[in-house]
Amino acid sequence: MAAHYDSIQNGQQPAAGRTPYGSGDPYYNESTGFITPQRPRKGLSPWIKFGLPVLILVIIGAVVGGVVGSRKSNDSSASSNGGKGTSSGEAAASSAASVKNAIGQFATATDSQYMRPIYPSTTNTAAFTSPTFNPSNNAALSWPEDSFKPSNPSVLSVRPDRPRLIAPAYKWQALPNLIQNDPYMKYWNDTIIRNATDYYGRDPVRYFMDGDSGILDNAREIKMRIKAFAYAYRLTNDTKWVDRTWREVSNAVSDSFGPNNSTKWNPNHFLDVGEFSAAFGIAYDWLYDLWTDDQRTQIRNNLITYGLQNGVSAYTDSTVSFGWWRNNINGNWNCVCNGGLTLGSLAILNDDTTGVARQLLGLTVDNAKQNCAQGPSTDGTWSETANYWYFGTTGHAEMTAALISATGSDYGMLTANKNFQLTGFYHMYATGNTLFDWGDHGPNKFSTTANGMFLYATAYNQPQYALFQRDQHDAADPWSMFWYDPSVSGAFWDGLALDRFFDDPQDQWASMRSSWTAQDALYVGVKAGTNENHQTHNDLDVGDFVLDAMGTRWAGELGSGDYRSINYFSSGAQDADRWKYYRKMTEGQNTILINQQNQLITAAPSVKHGSSDTKQGSSTVFDVPSDSTAFWTTDMTSAYSNAQSVKRGVRLINGRKQVLIQDEINAQSAIQWRMHTNATVAIDGSTVTLKIDDKTMQMKVISPASGFTITRTEAKRFDSDPTPPVPDQDNPGVSVVVISMEAGTVNLQVLFNPQWAGMSDSDFKTPPSVAIDSWSLTSHN
Ligand SMILES: *[C@@H]1O[C@H](CO)[C@@H](O)[C@H](O)[C@H]1NC(C)=O
Ligand SMILES: *[C@@H]1O[C@H](CO)[C@@H](O)[C@H](O)[C@H]1NC(C)=O
Ligand SMILES: *[C@@H]1O[C@H](CO)[C@@H](O)[C@H](O)[C@H]1NC(C)=O
Ligand SMILES: *[C@@H]1O[C@H](CO)[C@@H](O)[C@H](O)[C@H]1NC(C)=O
Ligand SMILES: *[C@@H]1O[C@H](CO)[C@@H](O)[C@H](O)[C@H]1NC(C)=O
Ligand SMILES: *[C@@H]1O[C@H](CO)[C@@H](O)[C@H](O)[C@H]1NC(C)=O
Repeated sequence: MAAHYDSIQNGQQPAAGRTPYGSGDPYYNESTGFITPQRPRKGLSPWIKFGLPVLILVIIGAVVGGVVGSRKSNDSSASSNGGKGTSSGEAAASSAASVKNAIGQFATATDSQYMRPIYPSTTNTAAFTSPTFNPSNNAALSWPEDSFKPSNPSVLSVRPDRPRLIAPAYKWQALPNLIQNDPYMKYWNDTIIRNATDYYGRDPVRYFMDGDSGILDNAREIKMRIKAFAYAYRLTNDTKWVDRTWREVSNAVSDSFGPNNSTKWNPNHFLDVGEFSAAFGIAYDWLYDLWTDDQRTQIRNNLITYGLQNGVSAYTDSTVSFGWWRNNINGNWNCVCNGGLTLGSLAILNDDTTGVARQLLGLTVDNAKQNCAQGPSTDGTWSETANYWYFGTTGHAEMTAALISATGSDYGMLTANKNFQLTGFYHMYATGNTLFDWGDHGPNKFSTTANGMFLYATAYNQPQYALFQRDQHDAADPWSMFWYDPSVSGAFWDGLALDRFFDDPQDQWASMRSSWTAQDALYVGVKAGTNENHQTHNDLDVGDFVLDAMGTRWAGELGSGDYRSINYFSSGAQDADRWKYYRKMTEGQNTILINQQNQLITAAPSVKHGSSDTKQGSSTVFDVPSDSTAFWTTDMTSAYSNAQSVKRGVRLINGRKQVLIQDEINAQSAIQWRMHTNATVAIDGSTVTLKIDDKTMQMKVISPASGFTITRTEAKRFDSDPTPPVPDQDNPGVSVVVISMEAGTVNLQVLFNPQWAGMSDSDFKTPPSVAIDSWSLTSHN
């Protein structure tokens, strides 16, 4: 187990007060960690409003005539989707671009609670086609070729023109035309500039040392702003954005920013240095021609003094301890630190007379290939958690894209791990109503997004990644403007399997659902895997599951504990303090608890599974065939010290409308089946009724007939549990449904019946009792 200090060091007290951004901030979304002014729910798209037959006529008209007449005549309120009046310029655009603008964005709104795109219930045979890139026949929707093509690329040999980081001049030149021809790019451009305008009116980011989380929030917020300001300048030529950028970079090195110069960017929490270095690199490079010589010198010197010089120390000075992230750390730290140092170094290469940039570029790329790039396991799962995937892939994607744009090669960042290409699918399948967000969730995201999906879509020829991400709430980001290939077309869900199983022994998890596009879809995520080797971001949670249905999460995760809690990250050993905090303990998970004891960190479960391999078609309306099913089972005996056998099986039944969870246990001590829920809980014999808002979920113990009791408890430690070093967080609003059984042999079957609209009692099925080892695709017919 790697020594790992994500945010806290041993023995320090939690700092008083919270970051200025947090639950109090109007834009802060507690469940996602994103700062997001919400995208307002839009009016219905014209193709819903006027119905399918009209839509097809409109599109055919557009294709034949090469004009977008429909939008102008029919609906001016939807013009945010890109429908402008016709003009001779647009007439010259390809018909594909016209069709794209006529259709607009597929998602019509974003769900305000879970921040998920809302797709209309409709069929659109012109738009919802197989995912594909079509650069050759969509001239108006294609990026030009880069003329910088070194035959023998070197990290020390940069392109002659500026900018060189991620967005070279030829891409900025192509941007206005692409924005006019792609409704997503148009929406993102407007949103980024609106966001920039919002940040413009605020004071520069105030220094806030958040205990042992350092000044990471500061660094990421400054990076988010600098990206937006520099982008806004380049799209408008208004120098007010350059002046505002200067205020922000000056503030981040001023005497009021931090206690003194020697700790300015907080190298002891090196992520902070990484993000500041990236931010300063972008400011330097994207506005290169706008800075005076003196400004350029100042930015460069500060970047070297507070950023890159510390990077050299991290790599070469054995007396400092802040370089631990470069030794066998395949998590987000390696990606963010190497990524930031690389962006900063590339930005000033050749202007830097100290040699620091050259020295770092000789170190970061190889190190990132050996560590950062190994983040995804053999099945694409990010080794830390589903939320840390965001931090790791953002760092990896920025570093990769900057190397390619500045020097003409990725040097193997994309191929050093042949399974990196699967990590986009990992992210998509981990997304239900909200993430299957096991383990720690990470700090606030600010400049961290899922937009690496656009880069990976092109790099790995997986158009689904881009089609999935472009409707997401965090897609409006300057990176998207350069990574998204607007020649992409089709629907990500067309032909996409509903289920996927992730079998690397370290992860072992399943994703099963009834639809990719219905807001009320059923989604089950369930995991086994190891309780070690996740950079100490995991919980003791073999057998843990989440369940979504009817637009709500019914069984969910508690998320991170307070990162400043004493010893939260200091060890993952069996007796570690981390495992005394409720959110990390086995009792804080949706799994089996035996003798009120934590699972073993040495757990090595096995899994089996099956799927009808049902794929969604092109429509957002998907009628699940009645024999469509999926199941996943695990033998998780090795996670328990006091059981002969513990097996769990999860199965979708009745055309994916109901879920069966079956546990076969032989244990020497008392057994609890536990599930955490935000619902109100009403217990009546063997039936539990869960309610959230006006939705109802019924849970029934269908076997055994007796020998168990069902109770509702608070989500907190048992009085008899060992006391953690500092008090636990409360879990307000969360109940635990507990099914308690004596020691011995039990076969517990719990059936979940979401009370779907229009489904009557007789429409629900009661499955037969089949031993888990005998489960097959047809065993429950
Ligand atoms: C980008 O957005 C800004 C703000 O909405 C707008 O003024 C500008 O015209 C847009 N750029 C293009 C190329 O459409
Ligand atoms: C900004 O200036 C560039 C370079 O002179 C020019 O190509 C571009 O059209 C200008 N953009 C705007 C929105 O004025
Ligand atoms: C700078 O501030 C830090 C944090 O307060 C302190 O530990 C350190 O000793 C200071 N260094 C100098 C050179 O004053
Ligand atoms: C920090 O460094 C800057 C730039 O070298 C210098 O102007 C400033 O006086 C220093 N601040 C302190 C408190 O030493
Ligand atoms: C800008 O705001 C939108 C929502 O309006 C959000 O989705 C996006 O992530 C923000 N982007 C940046 C770069 O701040
Ligand atoms: C409760 O709701 C929040 C926000 O929607 C969600 O993130 C969380 O996982 C839910 N908790 C449980 C235990 O279901």
